[in-house]
Amino acid sequence: MSTIDSMPVVNQTEAAPIASAGAAVIRVEDAHKYYDLGETRVHALRGVSIVIGQGEFVAIMGASGSGKSTFMNMLGCLDRLSSGRYLLEGIDVSRHDKRALALIRNQKIGFVFQGFNLLARTTALENTALPTLYTKIDKAERGKRAAEALAMVGLADRAQHFPSQMSGGQQQRVAVARALVNRPSILLADEPTGNLDSRTSVEIMEIFQSLNDKGLTIVLVTHEHDISQFAKRVLVFRDGKIRRDDPVVHRPKATEVLKTLPTLED
Ligand SMILES: Nc1ncnc2c1ncn2[C@@H]1O[C@H](COP(=O)(O)OP(=O)(O)OP(=O)(O)O)[C@@H](O)[C@H]1O
Ligand SMILES: [Mg+2]
Repeated sequence: MSTIDSMPVVNQTEAAPIASAGAAVIRVEDAHKYYDLGETRVHALRGVSIVIGQGEFVAIMGASGSGKSTFMNMLGCLDRLSSGRYLLEGIDVSRHDKRALALIRNQKIGFVFQGFNLLARTTALENTALPTLYTKIDKAERGKRAAEALAMVGLADRAQHFPSQMSGGQQQRVAVARALVNRPSILLADEPTGNLDSRTSVEIMEIFQSLNDKGLTIVLVTHEHDISQFAKRVLVFRDGKIRRDDPVVHRPKATEVLKTLPTLED
C-alpha cells in the first residue's frame, strides 16, 4: 500500500469552501494583468479576487477601460494573467500554456460577443455546429446537438437560414446556440446586447435567464443598468479592480418585461 492510501481521508464536503451558490466554478485570486506596449505598460487588472459559484448569474459593469474585457478574456481562457491564480472548476488554469487553454476553452466555456461573428455563407445550423468540429463527437451527434442548441434559443425553424436572412437578434441567438453546443460549464458574454435594440436585448436576457434557471453559470458584461438587473449579482469594475459586488434585489423576469414592450411585426 502506498503512503497516499494510508493517509487519513478528508471529508471533501466538509473541507470544501462554501461559495454563495453551488460549488465554486470560478475562483480568481489576486489577478494582475499588464499589457506591455514598447515603452509603456498598461496595468489592466490590479488585484482582482472573486469566487463565482455554480448556477450564479453575474453582470459586470464599469467605465470603458476599467478592465472588464480583460477579466472576461482571462475567465474564458483566451488570455493569461501576469500574476495571480485562476481556478476553473478547481483546476488551476493560470499556469496552462496556450494549447492546454484552448482545450479547456473548447470543453468548458461558451463565449458570446457584441458582434455576432457568424460565418456569412454558412447556415444557422452549421454555424451552431462549428465548435463541435474540434471535438471527438461524431457527425450525426454533432447535427443533433446543434439542432438542440438552436431549439434552446427558439430558432428551430431557422436552421437553414443564412445570417443575412436573419434579424440582429436572431443572429445573436445563433451565436448563443453556438456557445452552448459543447455543453459548457460557463457562458461568458461580453456586451451581447451592445448592437441590439431594447426589445431584442430583453429577448436575449430571457434566453439567459432560462438557461440560468436550468443551472448554467453566466457572466455577462453590460454598459446598461437595466440589463444588469436581469442578473442575480452585479460587480462594478473601476481602474482594474472590483469596487462593488452587490446582489440584485428586485430582479425582473425578462418574460414579464417583454409583455410590456411593443413588438415589431415579423
Ligand atoms: N490587447 C491590449 N493591449 C494593450 N492594452 C490593452 C489591450 N487590451 C486592453 N488594453 C488596455 O487595458 C485596459 C482595460 O481594457 P479593457 O478592454 O479590459 O476595458 P473594458 O472595461 O472592457 O472597456 P470597454 O467598456 O470600453 O469595453 C485599457 O486601458 C485598455 O486600453
Ligand atoms: Mg470591453
